[in-house]
Amino acid sequence: MPLRKKYTVAALLCGVLLGGCEGEQQANGAAVSHADGGAAEKMAAVEGDISVWPQLKPALAKDPELEARIGDLMVKMSLEEKVGQMIQAEIKYVTPEDVKEYHLGSVLNGGGSYPDNNKFATPQDWLALSEAFFAASMDTSDGGVAIPIIWGSDAVHGHNNIIGATLYPHNIGLGAARDPELIRRIGEATAREVAVTGVDWTFAPTVAVVRDDRWGRTYESYSEDPAVVKAYAEAMVKGLQGEKDDDDFLRGENLVATAKHFVGDGGTMRGIDRGDNLVPEKELAEVHAAGYFGALPAGVQTVMASFNSWNGDRLHGHEYLLNDVLKERLGFDGFVVGDWNGHQFVPGCTVDSCAAAINAGLDMFMVPSDWKELYKNTLAQVQSGEIPMTRIDDAVRRILRVKIRAGLFEHQRPLAGKDGILGNDDHRALAREAVRKSLVLLKNNDNLLPLKPKQNVLVAGDGADNLSQQTGGWTVSWQGTGNTRADFPGATSIYEGIEEVVKSAGGEAVLSEQGEFNNDSFANGRKPDVAIVVFGEEPYAEWHGDLSSLEYQQTTKTDLALLKKLREQGVPVVSVFLSGRPLWVNREMNASDAFVAAWLPGSEGAGVADVLFTGANGEMRYDFTGTLPFSWPHYVHQTVLNPYHDDYEPLFQLGYGLQSGDESLVSNQLTEDGETYSDGALEDAWMLVSRPRAPWQLQIAEKGQAPVAVTGNRATSGEDANITVASIDMESQEDARKIEWKGLRDGSVMLVAEIPQDLSRYLKEGAALSFDVRVDSKPQQPVSAIIACGDDCSAELPLQSTLQSLETGKWSKLSIDLQCFVDKGADFSRVSNALALSTGGQLSLAVANIKYVPKAADKAAMRCEG
Ligand code: BGC
Ligand code: BGC
Repeated sequence: MPLRKKYTVAALLCGVLLGGCEGEQQANGAAVSHADGGAAEKMAAVEGDISVWPQLKPALAKDPELEARIGDLMVKMSLEEKVGQMIQAEIKYVTPEDVKEYHLGSVLNGGGSYPDNNKFATPQDWLALSEAFFAASMDTSDGGVAIPIIWGSDAVHGHNNIIGATLYPHNIGLGAARDPELIRRIGEATAREVAVTGVDWTFAPTVAVVRDDRWGRTYESYSEDPAVVKAYAEAMVKGLQGEKDDDDFLRGENLVATAKHFVGDGGTMRGIDRGDNLVPEKELAEVHAAGYFGALPAGVQTVMASFNSWNGDRLHGHEYLLNDVLKERLGFDGFVVGDWNGHQFVPGCTVDSCAAAINAGLDMFMVPSDWKELYKNTLAQVQSGEIPMTRIDDAVRRILRVKIRAGLFEHQRPLAGKDGILGNDDHRALAREAVRKSLVLLKNNDNLLPLKPKQNVLVAGDGADNLSQQTGGWTVSWQGTGNTRADFPGATSIYEGIEEVVKSAGGEAVLSEQGEFNNDSFANGRKPDVAIVVFGEEPYAEWHGDLSSLEYQQTTKTDLALLKKLREQGVPVVSVFLSGRPLWVNREMNASDAFVAAWLPGSEGAGVADVLFTGANGEMRYDFTGTLPFSWPHYVHQTVLNPYHDDYEPLFQLGYGLQSGDESLVSNQLTEDGETYSDGALEDAWMLVSRPRAPWQLQIAEKGQAPVAVTGNRATSGEDANITVASIDMESQEDARKIEWKGLRDGSVMLVAEIPQDLSRYLKEGAALSFDVRVDSKPQQPVSAIIACGDDCSAELPLQSTLQSLETGKWSKLSIDLQCFVDKGADFSRVSNALALSTGGQLSLAVANIKYVPKAADKAAMRCEG
């Protein structure tokens, strides 16, 4: 028997969690369906049923003395000062002088933002800036009241914005440890490192309970199991803030923590970041809010509102959830901070004006750059009565309550500027322990693991000696990109750990990324006894990391080739897979003798070798103890997969994990049918949803010119900028592209794949090409929709008259039967270009949501005209 760790979960309702019910309905028959302003028909707000939420007591009893102290401050504060308290600006856009003048309540540093914009800023530089902000906030020379500022930062896996900090495994890896006590200790150690730099507050923990693993923030989630998230949220809050009954709660070596993102961030449709969560309220409470039932009783002082919507309504403007549920029913008496300009998506709001969010219960705006305008507008909205004074007073009271509780007025910072804390040995040892406990052994044929160190070990794969890959997103930079070895002083790569263990036992470890070796590679002239191949995802963070498919290396398969090559040479292969989520890796699994899910282990890569190898004499050092925090897919379409489903058929279930000696019954013949062949229900093939979905890339192509890749939020072609593509908002931030053709020559904007894709199943299943379009100026010359299948094959449909028939400035949904393209010569078994829009004339339009939708051909709006 393979060891399938027994796992029980409270039976939570859930047909709704099934991937199947999240599909979007295709617009029916009509030639072209119009949707107002693009925002499609908004779902009516769901009536709240407060009874599905437990009634919680405030974590801390009301303290009359503290409330009186707040009252004393409040009577002295002007309206301007109160509004200032509700503003949090970003350190790139705000100075201590601004803080003094506007009495700002808070600053943050965003991911990859540092004092003086200097990546190598020292802890002393951080502290100096923090002290300058503090002094400015306490400066009463203009007659104002001294209220200490609070600085917040994303210390989400250690103090990850500062070079030299200890970086713990990302939350998903910690989830594998199932060890709340470890989490508490990590919280404590993180708080100490943050405290050195004069930062008072961390935007952690993330308590998302993720459903669709394509979400780019899956690794910020501890588990798909609400019970794990709840236990960890409590432990992390206690670690960061201290115990609420202790004298040093929130003070001294402790910080203020944040439970984020309230609420439902992990349940958005198709795993789209900042998207819409459509679950019933009971499920919102029982699944998605689980972490709050751990964090709130532990006394978490701040909650961050989420970017996402619930049933069409943005959380930043959700009075029912922020006020009735969080503050009243759940007894939260700290303050609600917004997410990065998240208020702008509330209907009627912009970045610099949003009374609705405050009125709904937001207490502090996170408004990185445009804070001055927002401040002025908010002030005016209070003066005009649009925001009631009672709401301002409540928000400020909450902010002051947290500041007083955290001892900010006393300004005792015992650890500030201290040497020997940031990245110290104790903290690194703790992180290394966490790495050991996070490893999950999924396959171990013939008990290949653990390995004896005294042998020839070939270490391969681009993740083997790659600190950037093993630390992932939210590391020094926002997306975790652009980092080099120099950004990780004191850290160890996975290879470095292996080398140390092997060498000290008298074996030899040789690093070759490409897995190459010859007779001279090892001193004893023999070939490798084993290869350890470390590979996986490249770093990413929010939205950039969203996927359309769980298939690993959908296009290139270079790692699979490496594994196969080694095996063909008779070398047993141990795969160490670095990823922020479970991915469909059946092929790589088939090509491995042993397979370890190592997640994103952080700075202490040596923890991997601790578990892979025995001691010098074959004695066990550390066995595998990690178990899956997320179910692992057997089929590529299992994007939403968890035990609450009736047809739960994972490859490895939630809680699975082998120990050495366990018999591993993973077949070497797992189905290798990937994305385009999967037997499951064919899902919509998304090519562009907010951003192009891999393998598709957006490109501008013009006659006689090299193609221009559209990677950022704006791109133009040629010196005369004949074509411009810019990101714009349809329903959410940058979810659409505006394309302008000047008409100087023929040119197209297209979605291309480097390797042609077999999409013939879509044709067989009667799919239609569908996209949202808004014509801003009508075409004067022919326009075509083109699908290409390699250099020698393409099909072109005329689009001019259809576009001309649309009302300008309005969003419409266009759908075209794929068969129309076949009639014009398209071969869907090798699509290199899923859609190109092409014209030689002037044209201005916007597009969004480009996809192939199965079974929609019959209802396709556009028949094969022309
Ligand atoms: C993220 C938050 C983060 C904030 C500040 C946002 O984009 O969603 O999790 O705390 O930025 O960096
Ligand atoms: C910041 C991040 C933030 C993100 C939100 C980035 O520029 O550095 O902290 O989460 O923007 O869009």
